[in-house]
Amino acid sequence: MPPVVYIEDIARHDGEEVTLRGWLHNRRSSGKIHFLTVRDGTGFIQVVMSKADLGDERFAAADHLSQETSLTVTGRVRADARAKGGFEITGTGFTVVSASHDYPITPKEHGVDYLMDRRHLWIRSQRQQAVLRVRHTVIDAVREFFNSRGFTLADTPIFTPSACEGTSTLFPVQYFDDTTAYLTQSGQLYNEANAMALGKVYCFGPTFRAEKSKTRRHLTEFWMVEPEVAYADLDDTMDLAEQLVESVVARVLETRGAELTHLERKTDGLEAVRTPFPRISYDEAIGRLKGAGLPVEWGGDFGGTDETVLSSQFDRPVLVHRYPAAVKAFYMKPDPARPDLALCVDMLAPEGYGEIIGGGQRLDDYDLLLQRITDHDLPQEAFEWYLDLRRYGSVPHAGFGMGIERVVAWICGLEHVRETIPYPRLLHRLYP
Ligand code: 4AD
Ligand code: MG
Repeated sequence: MPPVVYIEDIARHDGEEVTLRGWLHNRRSSGKIHFLTVRDGTGFIQVVMSKADLGDERFAAADHLSQETSLTVTGRVRADARAKGGFEITGTGFTVVSASHDYPITPKEHGVDYLMDRRHLWIRSQRQQAVLRVRHTVIDAVREFFNSRGFTLADTPIFTPSACEGTSTLFPVQYFDDTTAYLTQSGQLYNEANAMALGKVYCFGPTFRAEKSKTRRHLTEFWMVEPEVAYADLDDTMDLAEQLVESVVARVLETRGAELTHLERKTDGLEAVRTPFPRISYDEAIGRLKGAGLPVEWGGDFGGTDETVLSSQFDRPVLVHRYPAAVKAFYMKPDPARPDLALCVDMLAPEGYGEIIGGGQRLDDYDLLLQRITDHDLPQEAFEWYLDLRRYGSVPHAGFGMGIERVVAWICGLEHVRETIPYPRLLHRLYP
Protein backbone atom coordinates (compact mmCIF):
# COMPACT_ATOMS: atom_id res chain seq x y z
CA MET A 1 0.00 0.00 0.00
CA PRO A 2 1.39 3.47 -0.88
CA PRO A 3 2.16 5.75 2.08
CA VAL A 4 -0.77 7.27 3.95
CA VAL A 5 -0.96 11.06 3.67
CA TYR A 6 -3.33 13.79 4.85
CA ILE A 7 -5.13 15.90 2.29
CA GLU A 8 -3.74 19.09 3.85
CA ASP A 9 -0.22 17.83 2.96
CA ILE A 10 -1.09 16.73 -0.56
CA ALA A 11 0.97 19.45 -2.30
CA ARG A 12 4.13 17.81 -1.01
CA HIS A 13 3.28 14.58 -2.84
CA ASP A 14 2.68 15.81 -6.37
CA GLY A 15 3.19 12.95 -8.80
CA GLU A 16 3.39 10.29 -6.08
CA GLU A 17 1.21 7.29 -5.30
CA VAL A 18 -0.54 7.85 -1.99
CA THR A 19 -3.22 6.39 0.27
CA LEU A 20 -5.96 8.56 1.77
CA ARG A 21 -8.06 7.46 4.72
CA GLY A 22 -11.36 9.22 5.08
CA TRP A 23 -14.99 9.37 4.11
CA LEU A 24 -16.89 9.77 0.89
CA HIS A 25 -18.35 13.26 0.94
CA ASN A 26 -20.00 13.17 -2.44
CA ARG A 27 -19.97 11.24 -5.70
CA ARG A 28 -20.88 11.98 -9.31
CA SER A 29 -20.56 9.45 -12.04
CA SER A 30 -20.60 9.53 -15.77
CA GLY A 31 -20.56 6.28 -17.75
CA LYS A 32 -16.81 5.74 -17.62
CA ILE A 33 -15.67 7.96 -14.74
CA HIS A 34 -16.53 8.35 -11.06
CA PHE A 35 -15.75 11.66 -9.40
CA LEU A 36 -15.48 11.10 -5.65
CA THR A 37 -15.07 13.95 -3.20
CA VAL A 38 -13.17 12.46 -0.31
CA ARG A 39 -12.61 14.17 3.02
CA ASP A 40 -10.26 13.09 5.77
CA GLY A 41 -10.75 15.74 8.46
CA THR A 42 -7.88 17.84 7.12
CA GLY A 43 -9.45 18.72 3.80
CA PHE A 44 -11.49 17.72 0.78
CA ILE A 45 -10.14 16.44 -2.53
CA GLN A 46 -11.54 15.08 -5.76
CA VAL A 47 -10.59 11.52 -6.71
CA VAL A 48 -11.15 10.65 -10.35
CA MET A 49 -11.66 6.94 -11.00
CA SER A 50 -11.90 5.63 -14.54
CA LYS A 51 -13.00 2.22 -15.74
CA ALA A 52 -9.65 1.88 -17.48
CA ASP A 53 -7.63 2.41 -14.28
CA LEU A 54 -9.88 0.46 -11.93
CA GLY A 55 -11.04 -2.50 -13.98
CA ASP A 56 -14.68 -3.37 -14.64
CA GLU A 57 -15.43 -5.04 -11.33
CA ARG A 58 -14.00 -2.37 -9.01
CA PHE A 59 -15.46 0.33 -11.19
CA ALA A 60 -18.92 -1.20 -10.80
CA ALA A 61 -18.39 -1.55 -7.03
CA ALA A 62 -17.52 2.15 -6.77
CA ASP A 63 -20.91 2.92 -8.25
CA HIS A 64 -22.49 1.68 -5.02
CA LEU A 65 -20.48 3.85 -2.66
CA SER A 66 -22.82 6.08 -0.72
CA GLN A 67 -22.33 9.36 1.12
CA GLU A 68 -20.22 9.16 4.31
CA THR A 69 -18.99 5.63 3.68
CA SER A 70 -15.59 5.42 5.33
CA LEU A 71 -12.93 4.24 2.95
CA THR A 72 -9.28 4.22 1.98
CA VAL A 73 -8.35 5.32 -1.50
CA THR A 74 -5.10 4.85 -3.37
CA GLY A 75 -4.06 6.88 -6.35
CA ARG A 76 -1.61 9.28 -7.89
CA VAL A 77 -1.52 12.97 -6.93
CA ARG A 78 -1.87 15.33 -9.86
CA ALA A 79 -1.56 19.12 -9.85
CA ASP A 80 -4.57 20.63 -11.57
CA ALA A 81 -5.13 24.36 -11.60
CA ARG A 82 -8.89 23.87 -12.02
CA ALA A 83 -9.22 21.68 -8.93
CA LYS A 84 -10.20 23.21 -5.58
CA GLY A 85 -7.00 23.22 -3.58
CA GLY A 86 -4.95 22.82 -6.76
CA PHE A 87 -4.69 19.00 -6.77
CA GLU A 88 -6.69 15.93 -7.54
CA ILE A 89 -6.08 12.21 -7.31
CA THR A 90 -6.19 9.74 -10.15
CA GLY A 91 -7.64 6.80 -8.26
CA THR A 92 -6.30 3.30 -8.72
CA GLY A 93 -8.12 1.46 -5.92
CA PHE A 94 -10.28 1.78 -2.84
CA THR A 95 -11.32 -0.28 0.17
CA VAL A 96 -14.49 0.28 2.15
CA VAL A 97 -13.86 0.53 5.89
CA SER A 98 -17.49 0.78 6.91
CA ALA A 99 -20.66 1.42 4.97
CA SER A 100 -23.03 4.36 5.47
CA HIS A 101 -26.67 3.87 4.53
CA ASP A 102 -29.13 6.69 3.87
CA TYR A 103 -27.01 9.48 5.33
CA PRO A 104 -29.60 11.98 6.51
CA ILE A 105 -27.85 15.17 5.38
CA THR A 106 -27.81 15.31 1.61
CA PRO A 107 -26.53 18.10 -0.63
CA LYS A 108 -30.08 19.52 -0.85
CA GLU A 109 -31.22 22.30 1.51
CA HIS A 110 -32.35 21.29 5.00
CA GLY A 111 -34.00 23.47 7.66
CA VAL A 112 -31.97 24.65 10.64
CA ASP A 113 -33.93 22.57 13.17
CA TYR A 114 -33.43 19.46 11.08
CA LEU A 115 -29.70 20.16 10.95
CA MET A 116 -29.48 21.07 14.65
CA ASP A 117 -31.11 17.73 15.56
CA ARG A 118 -28.29 16.10 13.59
CA ARG A 119 -25.55 18.42 14.77
CA HIS A 120 -23.26 15.43 15.45
CA LEU A 121 -23.35 14.72 11.69
CA TRP A 122 -23.78 18.28 10.44
CA ILE A 123 -20.29 19.18 11.72
CA ARG A 124 -18.91 16.96 8.93
CA SER A 125 -19.98 19.53 6.34
CA GLN A 126 -17.36 21.75 4.82
CA ARG A 127 -19.02 24.90 6.08
CA GLN A 128 -19.27 23.70 9.67
CA GLN A 129 -15.70 22.48 9.58
CA ALA A 130 -14.62 25.93 8.40
CA VAL A 131 -16.41 27.61 11.32
CA LEU A 132 -14.95 25.18 13.87
CA ARG A 133 -11.46 25.72 12.51
CA VAL A 134 -11.86 29.48 12.83
CA ARG A 135 -13.05 28.87 16.41
CA HIS A 136 -9.93 26.82 17.07
CA THR A 137 -7.75 29.63 15.73
CA VAL A 138 -9.57 32.27 17.77
CA ILE A 139 -8.98 30.24 20.95
CA ASP A 140 -5.38 29.55 20.02
CA ALA A 141 -4.77 33.26 19.33
CA VAL A 142 -6.36 34.25 22.65
CA ARG A 143 -4.07 31.89 24.59
CA GLU A 144 -1.03 33.00 22.65
CA PHE A 145 -1.92 36.65 23.30
CA PHE A 146 -2.05 36.27 27.07
CA ASN A 147 0.77 33.74 27.37
CA SER A 148 3.15 35.99 25.44
CA ARG A 149 2.33 38.92 27.73
CA GLY A 150 3.22 37.26 30.99
CA PHE A 151 -0.29 36.27 32.06
CA THR A 152 -0.75 33.07 34.07
CA LEU A 153 -3.70 30.81 33.26
CA ALA A 154 -5.40 30.13 36.58
CA ASP A 155 -8.72 28.38 36.13
CA THR A 156 -11.73 29.13 38.27
CA PRO A 157 -14.38 26.65 39.46
CA ILE A 158 -17.47 25.68 37.51
CA PHE A 159 -19.41 24.54 40.60
CA THR A 160 -19.82 27.66 42.69
CA PRO A 161 -21.65 28.41 45.92
CA SER A 162 -23.10 31.74 44.77
CA ALA A 163 -23.81 34.23 42.05
CA CYS A 164 -21.62 36.71 40.27
CA GLU A 165 -23.75 38.42 37.63
CA GLY A 166 -27.10 38.18 39.44
CA THR A 167 -29.04 35.27 40.90
CA SER A 168 -31.91 35.05 38.44
CA THR A 169 -29.74 33.60 35.72
CA LEU A 170 -28.10 30.68 37.56
CA PHE A 171 -28.41 26.98 36.91
CA PRO A 172 -28.72 25.16 40.24
CA VAL A 173 -27.18 21.69 40.62
CA GLN A 174 -27.77 19.26 43.46
CA TYR A 175 -24.42 19.01 45.24
CA PHE A 176 -24.54 15.80 47.29
CA ASP A 177 -27.28 15.51 49.89
CA ASP A 178 -28.15 18.92 51.16
CA THR A 179 -26.30 21.55 49.20
CA THR A 180 -27.17 23.45 46.06
CA ALA A 181 -24.29 24.50 43.86
CA TYR A 182 -24.59 26.78 40.83
CA LEU A 183 -22.89 26.51 37.48
CA THR A 184 -20.58 29.48 37.11
CA GLN A 185 -21.67 32.53 35.12
CA SER A 186 -18.20 34.05 35.16
CA GLY A 187 -14.87 33.26 36.77
CA GLN A 188 -14.35 36.89 37.63
CA LEU A 189 -14.58 36.88 41.42
CA TYR A 190 -12.09 34.02 41.76
CA ASN A 191 -10.03 35.63 39.04
CA GLU A 192 -9.70 38.73 41.23
CA ALA A 193 -8.28 36.55 44.01
CA ASN A 194 -5.92 34.94 41.51
CA ALA A 195 -4.75 38.37 40.31
CA MET A 196 -3.91 39.34 43.90
CA ALA A 197 -1.70 36.23 43.98
CA LEU A 198 -0.25 36.12 40.47
CA GLY A 199 -0.57 39.70 39.20
CA LYS A 200 -1.76 39.12 35.64
CA VAL A 201 -4.06 36.14 35.18
CA TYR A 202 -6.72 34.76 32.91
CA CYS A 203 -9.26 32.00 33.14
CA PHE A 204 -10.81 30.37 30.13
CA GLY A 205 -13.66 27.95 30.33
CA PRO A 206 -17.34 27.26 29.88
CA THR A 207 -19.82 29.58 31.60
CA PHE A 208 -23.55 29.18 32.02
CA ARG A 209 -26.47 31.58 31.85
CA ALA A 210 -30.04 30.61 32.60
CA GLU A 211 -31.53 33.75 31.05
CA LYS A 212 -34.48 32.78 28.92
CA SER A 213 -33.10 34.71 25.97
CA LYS A 214 -33.98 33.50 22.54
CA THR A 215 -31.78 35.75 20.47
CA ARG A 216 -29.09 35.04 17.90
CA ARG A 217 -26.46 36.14 20.43
CA HIS A 218 -27.35 34.00 23.45
CA LEU A 219 -26.28 30.51 24.39
CA THR A 220 -26.95 28.96 27.80
CA GLU A 221 -23.44 27.47 27.77
CA PHE A 222 -20.66 29.51 26.22
CA TRP A 223 -16.91 29.89 26.51
CA MET A 224 -15.47 33.02 28.00
CA VAL A 225 -11.88 34.17 28.40
CA GLU A 226 -11.40 36.52 31.33
CA PRO A 227 -8.19 38.40 32.04
CA GLU A 228 -7.74 40.19 35.37
CA VAL A 229 -4.86 42.49 36.25
CA ALA A 230 -3.70 43.86 39.61
CA TYR A 231 -2.79 47.56 39.69
CA ALA A 232 -4.79 48.19 36.50
CA ASP A 233 -7.55 50.73 35.90
CA LEU A 234 -10.33 51.16 33.35
CA ASP A 235 -8.05 52.66 30.70
CA ASP A 236 -5.58 49.80 31.06
CA THR A 237 -8.34 47.26 30.59
CA MET A 238 -9.66 49.07 27.50
CA ASP A 239 -6.13 49.02 26.04
CA LEU A 240 -5.83 45.31 26.75
CA ALA A 241 -9.25 44.55 25.27
CA GLU A 242 -8.58 46.32 21.99
CA GLN A 243 -5.13 44.77 21.64
CA LEU A 244 -6.61 41.31 22.21
CA VAL A 245 -9.30 41.77 19.57
CA GLU A 246 -6.86 43.26 17.07
CA SER A 247 -4.51 40.36 17.49
CA VAL A 248 -7.19 37.64 17.30
CA VAL A 249 -8.66 39.08 14.10
CA ALA A 250 -5.20 39.47 12.55
CA ARG A 251 -4.37 35.84 13.29
CA VAL A 252 -7.58 34.56 11.69
CA LEU A 253 -6.96 36.70 8.59
CA GLU A 254 -3.41 35.40 8.39
CA THR A 255 -4.14 31.70 8.79
CA ARG A 256 -7.79 31.06 7.92
CA GLY A 257 -8.19 32.77 4.56
CA ALA A 258 -9.43 29.56 2.95
CA GLU A 259 -12.10 29.07 5.60
CA LEU A 260 -13.28 32.69 5.38
CA THR A 261 -13.48 32.35 1.61
CA HIS A 262 -15.51 29.18 1.95
CA LEU A 263 -17.85 31.04 4.31
CA GLU A 264 -18.08 33.85 1.73
CA ARG A 265 -16.96 36.26 4.43
CA LYS A 266 -15.94 39.63 3.00
CA THR A 267 -12.76 40.55 4.83
CA ASP A 268 -12.44 44.33 4.29
CA GLY A 269 -14.32 44.99 7.51
CA LEU A 270 -11.98 42.67 9.37
CA GLU A 271 -8.87 44.22 7.81
CA ALA A 272 -9.94 47.57 9.36
CA VAL A 273 -9.81 46.13 12.89
CA ARG A 274 -6.73 48.05 14.00
CA THR A 275 -6.08 49.82 17.28
CA PRO A 276 -6.89 52.39 18.52
CA PHE A 277 -10.63 51.61 18.56
CA PRO A 278 -13.06 54.49 19.06
CA ARG A 279 -14.04 55.08 22.71
CA ILE A 280 -17.27 56.79 23.64
CA SER A 281 -18.96 57.31 26.97
CA TYR A 282 -22.41 56.02 27.75
CA ASP A 283 -23.61 59.64 27.75
CA GLU A 284 -22.30 60.13 24.24
CA ALA A 285 -23.84 56.81 23.16
CA ILE A 286 -27.24 57.97 24.42
CA GLY A 287 -26.84 61.17 22.43
CA ARG A 288 -25.99 59.22 19.30
CA LEU A 289 -28.95 56.88 19.74
CA LYS A 290 -31.35 59.77 20.26
CA GLY A 291 -29.83 61.39 17.19
CA ALA A 292 -30.62 58.22 15.26
CA GLY A 293 -34.24 58.48 16.41
CA LEU A 294 -34.24 55.62 18.91
CA PRO A 295 -36.51 55.87 21.96
CA VAL A 296 -33.77 55.60 24.59
CA GLU A 297 -33.69 57.24 28.01
CA TRP A 298 -30.58 57.97 30.05
CA GLY A 299 -30.25 55.31 32.73
CA GLY A 300 -31.19 52.12 30.93
CA ASP A 301 -28.99 49.37 29.53
CA PHE A 302 -28.76 48.98 25.75
CA GLY A 303 -30.80 46.45 23.86
CA GLY A 304 -29.74 44.53 20.79
CA THR A 305 -31.07 47.18 18.41
CA ASP A 306 -29.32 50.00 20.27
CA GLU A 307 -26.04 48.11 20.04
CA THR A 308 -26.52 47.46 16.34
CA VAL A 309 -27.28 51.11 15.59
CA LEU A 310 -24.33 52.33 17.65
CA SER A 311 -21.81 49.92 16.23
CA SER A 312 -22.93 50.64 12.66
CA GLN A 313 -21.61 54.20 13.16
CA PHE A 314 -18.02 52.91 13.30
CA ASP A 315 -15.81 50.88 10.99
CA ARG A 316 -14.23 48.88 13.82
CA PRO A 317 -15.26 47.73 17.27
CA VAL A 318 -16.28 50.55 19.60
CA LEU A 319 -15.66 50.76 23.36
CA VAL A 320 -18.56 52.22 25.34
CA HIS A 321 -17.53 53.15 28.86
CA ARG A 322 -19.07 54.51 32.07
CA TYR A 323 -22.62 53.13 32.11
CA PRO A 324 -24.96 54.14 34.93
CA ALA A 325 -23.88 52.17 38.01
CA ALA A 326 -27.49 51.20 38.63
CA VAL A 327 -27.68 48.92 35.56
CA LYS A 328 -24.35 47.20 36.23
CA ALA A 329 -23.13 44.51 38.62
CA PHE A 330 -22.40 45.16 42.30
CA TYR A 331 -18.62 44.79 41.95
CA MET A 332 -18.11 47.77 39.62
CA LYS A 333 -16.08 50.70 40.92
CA PRO A 334 -17.93 54.03 40.73
CA ASP A 335 -16.31 56.82 38.78
CA PRO A 336 -14.83 59.19 41.43
CA ALA A 337 -15.71 62.12 39.15
CA ARG A 338 -19.36 61.00 38.88
CA PRO A 339 -20.31 58.26 41.35
CA ASP A 340 -23.58 57.52 39.49
CA LEU A 341 -21.43 56.02 36.74
CA ALA A 342 -19.52 52.75 36.85
CA LEU A 343 -15.95 52.43 35.59
CA CYS A 344 -17.01 49.75 33.16
CA VAL A 345 -16.71 49.10 29.47
CA ASP A 346 -18.49 47.08 26.79
CA MET A 347 -16.96 46.45 23.39
CA LEU A 348 -19.47 46.30 20.55
CA ALA A 349 -18.49 44.49 17.39
CA PRO A 350 -19.23 46.05 14.00
CA GLU A 351 -21.91 44.89 11.55
CA GLY A 352 -24.53 44.38 14.23
CA TYR A 353 -22.78 41.61 16.16
CA GLY A 354 -23.32 43.36 19.47
CA GLU A 355 -21.40 43.14 22.70
CA ILE A 356 -18.37 40.88 22.54
CA ILE A 357 -16.59 42.12 25.69
CA GLY A 358 -17.79 43.33 29.06
CA GLY A 359 -15.60 44.39 31.96
CA GLY A 360 -14.12 47.26 33.91
CA GLN A 361 -12.46 48.35 37.11
CA ARG A 362 -13.47 46.57 40.31
CA LEU A 363 -14.56 48.04 43.58
CA ASP A 364 -11.44 47.86 45.75
CA ASP A 365 -12.76 49.69 48.82
CA TYR A 366 -13.95 47.40 51.65
CA ASP A 367 -16.73 49.58 53.07
CA LEU A 368 -18.26 50.44 49.75
CA LEU A 369 -18.15 46.84 48.55
CA LEU A 370 -19.89 45.66 51.71
CA GLN A 371 -22.50 48.35 51.17
CA ARG A 372 -23.09 47.17 47.59
CA ILE A 373 -23.42 43.55 48.66
CA THR A 374 -26.08 44.59 51.16
CA ASP A 375 -27.82 46.88 48.65
CA HIS A 376 -28.01 44.02 46.16
CA ASP A 377 -29.48 41.66 48.79
CA LEU A 378 -26.57 39.29 48.44
CA PRO A 379 -25.71 37.04 51.39
CA GLN A 380 -22.62 38.49 53.07
CA GLU A 381 -21.38 35.10 54.36
CA ALA A 382 -21.03 33.88 50.81
CA PHE A 383 -18.83 36.85 49.97
CA GLU A 384 -16.55 36.85 53.02
CA TRP A 385 -13.70 35.41 50.99
CA TYR A 386 -14.25 38.06 48.33
CA LEU A 387 -14.26 40.77 51.00
CA ASP A 388 -10.94 39.33 52.26
CA LEU A 389 -9.35 40.61 49.05
CA ARG A 390 -10.23 44.12 50.30
CA ARG A 391 -9.11 43.36 53.87
CA TYR A 392 -5.65 42.15 53.02
CA GLY A 393 -3.78 44.51 50.75
CA SER A 394 -6.47 45.71 48.38
CA VAL A 395 -5.26 47.34 45.14
CA PRO A 396 -6.96 48.86 42.11
CA HIS A 397 -7.62 46.11 39.58
CA ALA A 398 -9.53 45.57 36.39
CA GLY A 399 -10.39 42.97 33.83
CA PHE A 400 -12.98 41.80 31.35
CA GLY A 401 -14.68 38.81 29.77
CA MET A 402 -14.82 38.04 26.06
CA GLY A 403 -17.36 35.55 24.74
CA ILE A 404 -15.73 33.26 22.19
CA GLU A 405 -18.91 32.39 20.30
CA ARG A 406 -19.87 36.02 19.67
CA VAL A 407 -16.37 36.71 18.38
CA VAL A 408 -16.47 33.68 16.09
CA ALA A 409 -19.94 34.61 14.81
CA TRP A 410 -18.70 38.09 13.96
CA ILE A 411 -15.44 36.99 12.34
CA CYS A 412 -17.18 34.29 10.29
CA GLY A 413 -20.11 36.57 9.45
CA LEU A 414 -22.70 34.11 10.82
CA GLU A 415 -26.28 34.98 11.51
CA HIS A 416 -26.49 33.08 14.79
CA VAL A 417 -24.05 31.94 17.50
CA ARG A 418 -25.45 28.40 17.37
CA GLU A 419 -23.04 27.45 14.56
CA THR A 420 -19.93 28.63 16.42
CA ILE A 421 -19.71 25.81 18.96
CA PRO A 422 -19.78 22.09 18.25
CA TYR A 423 -22.86 21.37 20.41
CA PRO A 424 -24.83 24.53 21.15
CA ARG A 425 -26.94 24.70 24.27
CA LEU A 426 -29.93 27.00 23.83
CA LEU A 427 -33.17 27.72 25.62
CA HIS A 428 -34.92 24.96 23.67
CA ARG A 429 -31.99 22.77 22.75
CA LEU A 430 -30.13 20.21 24.82
CA TYR A 431 -29.82 17.50 22.14
CA PRO A 432 -27.61 16.00 20.82
O1 4AD B 1 -20.84 41.10 30.05
P1 4AD B 1 -20.71 39.80 30.77
O2 4AD B 1 -21.91 39.26 31.43
O3 4AD B 1 -19.52 40.02 31.81
C1 4AD B 1 -19.11 39.17 32.79
O4 4AD B 1 -19.50 38.04 32.97
C2 4AD B 1 -17.96 39.73 33.59
N1 4AD B 1 -17.99 39.12 34.91
C3 4AD B 1 -16.68 39.41 32.84
C4 4AD B 1 -15.45 39.97 33.54
O5 4AD B 1 -15.37 41.18 33.70
N2 4AD B 1 -14.54 39.12 33.88
O6 4AD B 1 -20.17 38.70 29.75
C5 4AD B 1 -18.96 38.90 29.06
C6 4AD B 1 -19.11 38.48 27.62
C7 4AD B 1 -20.11 39.27 26.81
O7 4AD B 1 -19.56 40.47 26.35
C8 4AD B 1 -20.41 38.32 25.68
O8 4AD B 1 -19.37 38.32 24.71
C9 4AD B 1 -20.37 36.98 26.37
O9 4AD B 1 -19.57 37.14 27.52
N3 4AD B 1 -21.70 36.52 26.74
C10 4AD B 1 -22.41 35.59 26.07
N4 4AD B 1 -22.14 34.88 24.98
C11 4AD B 1 -23.04 33.99 24.54
N5 4AD B 1 -24.22 33.76 25.16
C12 4AD B 1 -24.54 34.45 26.29
N6 4AD B 1 -25.69 34.20 26.91
C13 4AD B 1 -23.61 35.42 26.78
N7 4AD B 1 -23.60 36.25 27.86
C14 4AD B 1 -22.44 36.91 27.81
MG1 MG C 1 -22.22 42.47 29.51
